[in-house]
Amino acid sequence: MLIDTHTHLFDDRFHKDLPAVLERAAAAGVDRVICLGIDLDTSRGAVEIANTYPLVVAAVGIQPNHAAEAKAGDWDAVVKLAESEPRVVAIGETGLDRYWDRAPFPAQEDYFKRHIQLARALRKPFVIHCRDAEADVVKTLRGQEANGPLSAVMHSFSGDLATARECLEMGLYMSFAGMVTYPTAQNLRDVAKEVPLDRLLVETDCPYLAPQPVRGKRNEPAYVAHTVALLAQVKGISVAELEEHTTRNARTLFRL
Ligand code: NI
Repeated sequence: MLIDTHTHLFDDRFHKDLPAVLERAAAAGVDRVICLGIDLDTSRGAVEIANTYPLVVAAVGIQPNHAAEAKAGDWDAVVKLAESEPRVVAIGETGLDRYWDRAPFPAQEDYFKRHIQLARALRKPFVIHCRDAEADVVKTLRGQEANGPLSAVMHSFSGDLATARECLEMGLYMSFAGMVTYPTAQNLRDVAKEVPLDRLLVETDCPYLAPQPVRGKRNEPAYVAHTVALLAQVKGISVAELEEHTTRNARTLFRL
C-alpha cells in the first residue's frame, strides 16, 4: 500500500478524468491521496474532492506564493474549513518561497506563522513548501519550536544535507517527489539516503514534475510508485520494505 502525501487534484489538468486518475492510483496500490489547497478557492476544492472520493483526504491553506493575493476574510474561511471539515487532515501548504518572489517576504512569514499556530491549535500536522528559503524556514521553525514540538513535513524536499539534518533534529518528516528520480539530482539522492526510514515520506506533487520514466507527462498519484522504487534503490532495501515504512509514517503523521 502506498500513500501519495501531496497532490493538487483540483488542477484544471484533472477536470476531465479525475475518476479514471483515482482508479489508476488504486490499481497501482495507492490507498490514500492527500490533496492540498494553495489558496481559499482551491482549499474549498480540495475539501470537495475529499468529500466526493473516499480515496482522498484534504489539507487547507494559503501557499506562500498566494499570500499577497489573499483577500480579507480568506484566512478566516480557511480556518473555518480546517475546524469544521472532518476530512481535513492537515494544514497547508504553507512555507516560504524566495524563488518565485510572488509575495512580499514579510507577508509570507506572517502566513507561515498563522498556519503553524492553527495546526498547533487544532492538533493537526502542517505541510511546508520551501523553495530557495531554507535558512528562513529553519529560523521560523526554530522560533516556533519554543512553543512545543512540531508535527510537520518538508514537502518535495530540495534542500541540502545540512538543512535536512536541522529539520530531522526538529522532528520533521521529509517527503521526496519526482525530482529525486532525475538523473541530475544526485545530491538530492545523497540527502534521501541520510533520512532515517522512520521519517521518510513520498509524494507526487501532481500535476507537476512527473518522475522518471514518465517525466514530461502530466503527473498523477499512480506515479508515486516510480519514486518509491527509486528510493528503495537509494536506501538499499526492497520496494515492499520502503512502501511499508513510508506508508506507516504517513499514517502516523496525518493520523490516517
Ligand atoms: Ni504543492
